[in-house]
Amino acid sequence: MEFHRVIGARRSLRAFSRRPVEMEKIERMLDAARWSPSCANRQPWRFVVVGADAPSRAAVEEALDAGNDWAKRAPVLIAAGARRQDAAVVESRDYFLLDTGMALMSLLYRAVDLGLLVHPMAGWKEEPLRAALGFPDDFTPAAVVAVGYAGKSGDLDEAARKKDEKPRARKPLGEVAFRSRWGEPFEATLPSLPAKVYETELQLRFGDTDAMGHVNNAKVVTYLELGRIRFFADVMGVERVEDIRFILAEVSCRYRIPILMHDRVFVRMHITDVHRSSFRFRCDLFDPRDGRVFVEAETVQVMYDYTTGRPVPVDADFLAKARDYIGG
Ligand SMILES: Cc1cc2nc3c(=O)[nH]c(=O)nc-3n(C[C@H](O)[C@H](O)[C@H](O)COP(=O)(O)O)c2cc1C
Repeated sequence: MEFHRVIGARRSLRAFSRRPVEMEKIERMLDAARWSPSCANRQPWRFVVVGADAPSRAAVEEALDAGNDWAKRAPVLIAAGARRQDAAVVESRDYFLLDTGMALMSLLYRAVDLGLLVHPMAGWKEEPLRAALGFPDDFTPAAVVAVGYAGKSGDLDEAARKKDEKPRARKPLGEVAFRSRWGEPFEATLPSLPAKVYETELQLRFGDTDAMGHVNNAKVVTYLELGRIRFFADVMGVERVEDIRFILAEVSCRYRIPILMHDRVFVRMHITDVHRSSFRFRCDLFDPRDGRVFVEAETVQVMYDYTTGRPVPVDADFLAKARDYIGG
């Protein structure tokens, strides 16, 4: 996966499936952490991997706060922290937890890159965790990370499900980054949100559902196609199929909630980035009545000349018509 997509795909969601995680993937995550930078290369981080069958597993679960009960479904829990004896101290600044945070971030991103769901937690009791895992006195535990594959949000309790369905929020760039001096906001110039998002309703058909009563995952790809075609008709003014000048290069979907026959499904979409001859749509399938997002998807289109069979640059006409729909 391209790195910016890994950053975009990482979410601290709570619905884990019981599917076991391959130890090879855990090893790759730990290796990514191992190659992180650290002050004076002291590498103070340490990790304890606790699988579903580990003798310490029950005691680690016991140490979790009640609000993190969802994490018990995750097949792997990794306790991460730092050894103070390996701390680099500059003036009076102790870097051991910063180093460990960076290593943890590498571990999380590598996990996402490997198709895993990871969720770091601070909600656990230190003494029971120390006892469960036999940490030495000079070890400071920092986080427990739940690791697994994404599961069904229907398996979560109400409180956890609501948290998972909440839209993500971030402080604006100018509040967290300054230019030249503290307090002088770093003004964002790239649109973080498009001026407009294209929305259209999708008509579900009984035949779209499978033996489970869910809209089949392959149908979702067709829904995205319908959204694209309507976008080109409504926004770009395309009237004839010959005037569609792109070819689909990539589709990726995150199926969050099954779509059922009685759901109302809209697609909302905008363009997140435009390159020399390609552009990317970000699409959500959602129910406007309660805001539930069923599917998050991305598609990459390459502008294409069907007569020569070759990609062509994105042209000014496309950019002018699509401009309001382009944003991060
Ligand atoms: C150090 C740390 C501790 C966290 N502890 C918890 C926790 O105990 N329980 C929980 O549900 N989420 C926990 N989170 C997840 C955050 O709530 C989450 O990262 C934040 O809301 C941003 O959402 P995102 O990670 O999906 O972007 C923790 C995250 C970090 C980095």
